[in-house]
Amino acid sequence: MVHCGLTFLLLFCWGQTAHSKTSDNLRTLQKILFSNYSAAIRPQYNQSEPTIVGLKLFVSDLIEVNEVQQFITLSCFFNISWTDEFLQWKPEHYGGIQKMQVESTNIWKPYLDLYSSLDDTDVFGDERYRIFVFHDGRISWHPTKTLRVACLMNVERFPFDVQECNLTFSPLQYTFEEVQLEARDFLSIFSVFKRHGEWEAVNSSVNVFSHTFDGNKLSILRTSLRYKRQHMFFVLNFMVPIIMLSILNLLTFWLPNDSGEKTSFSITVLLALTVFLTTVSSNLPRTSSNTIYITTYITCLLLLSGLTVLATISMLHFHHRNKDMSERNEDRVVDLNAKRITGCQRPKAAWRSKCGNNGLKIDVLMFLIFFLGWCTATFWFFAYVRVPT
Ligand SMILES: *[C@@H]1O[C@H](CO)[C@@H](O)[C@H](O)[C@H]1NC(C)=O
Ligand SMILES: *[C@@H]1O[C@H](CO)[C@@H](O)[C@H](O)[C@H]1NC(C)=O
Ligand SMILES: *[C@@H]1O[C@H](CO)[C@@H](O)[C@H](O)[C@H]1NC(C)=O
Ligand SMILES: *[C@@H]1O[C@H](CO)[C@@H](O)[C@H](O)[C@H]1NC(C)=O
Repeated sequence: MVHCGLTFLLLFCWGQTAHSKTSDNLRTLQKILFSNYSAAIRPQYNQSEPTIVGLKLFVSDLIEVNEVQQFITLSCFFNISWTDEFLQWKPEHYGGIQKMQVESTNIWKPYLDLYSSLDDTDVFGDERYRIFVFHDGRISWHPTKTLRVACLMNVERFPFDVQECNLTFSPLQYTFEEVQLEARDFLSIFSVFKRHGEWEAVNSSVNVFSHTFDGNKLSILRTSLRYKRQHMFFVLNFMVPIIMLSILNLLTFWLPNDSGEKTSFSITVLLALTVFLTTVSSNLPRTSSNTIYITTYITCLLLLSGLTVLATISMLHFHHRNKDMSERNEDRVVDLNAKRITGCQRPKAAWRSKCGNNGLKIDVLMFLIFFLGWCTATFWFFAYVRVPT
């Protein structure tokens, strides 16, 4: 019976506190807390102690990776937390209020800057996001932001490349003794990442350190995000046609000299390769600092194709000159025949067979030389651009 009574009392009391959370309580609490509050004062009773700001970052979308202009656009949301020693209260004095929301302009915030941002560097300047204050002074702030950050990309291995972009945050207005950053749970950075057609999130790392900048020691948090290009699109749309075209290029030497198609065929292949080189180049940054293997490869193929045209034209030139000469010889033989009636056509036949064999030999030789060149270029390309694991 006593037990029952106690339980009832407890439940009643609990119900009382739960129900007595009124707007008046909240108003009184806010009035008391903010009567003396200044958003300009770092919320630390002992101003010699630093304020620890915890940063947690989620990347939800990769909006754009721009290799040509070398920047990346990400959609992110943050959980920034710290302790405000001036915003503490005892819940039991205010009807059990455990937490409240305040306008972000009313309380002290660490101004965090994002290095290499293409937009405003003060990424958290937006005042729309309200801040949660817990009774023990814990503050938690969840801004959402689209970040556009310059990122030096290495496209050497295009289209099998992995890009690494850094997001570097620092409270530029406070020294290391005043505000220190702390990374919280950066393993879950891609936990809400949505699928992207071209890029796949690989992993990330985070690094917190201090750096002296123009005499000021600053706390810096740097996170590296790694993305891998899904190369299937480029393999099917660029590499397969390029390799096909370069093999077709070799077949020029199989065409008979008299077909009249040899030059036009080799020039068509050369033009098609040029078109591909232009298309691939338009996807790449205009950098000369490092070799991009795929452009070097296409340039090699282009060079081979150009040499094929040159070789074809020279071969045709000699072929036709020799033919003219043999025809003249023939005429002379015919004249002689008409005069002497020897009926001997041996010189012509001998020349024909000799010439034919020679033409074939040169064709085979050229084919072998160019095939060797093609093999070397292709082997070199695939050896350097091996698919990263
Ligand atoms: C405001 O701060 C001043 C100086 O610290 C103090 O004297 C005063 O009592 C405070 N007022 C309230 C309402 O806390
Ligand atoms: C303030 O913090 C500093 C460094 O932690 C400490 O040396 C100093 O004694 C503290 N002052 C007070 C008044 O507590
Ligand atoms: C934000 O981070 C703080 C501290 O790590 C944590 O207590 C809080 O639950 C987090 N808030 C959300 C919505 O994840
Ligand atoms: C994550 O990236 C680092 C390089 O920053 C790499 O060394 C490491 O192997 C990667 N880890 C995984 C699991 O992929």
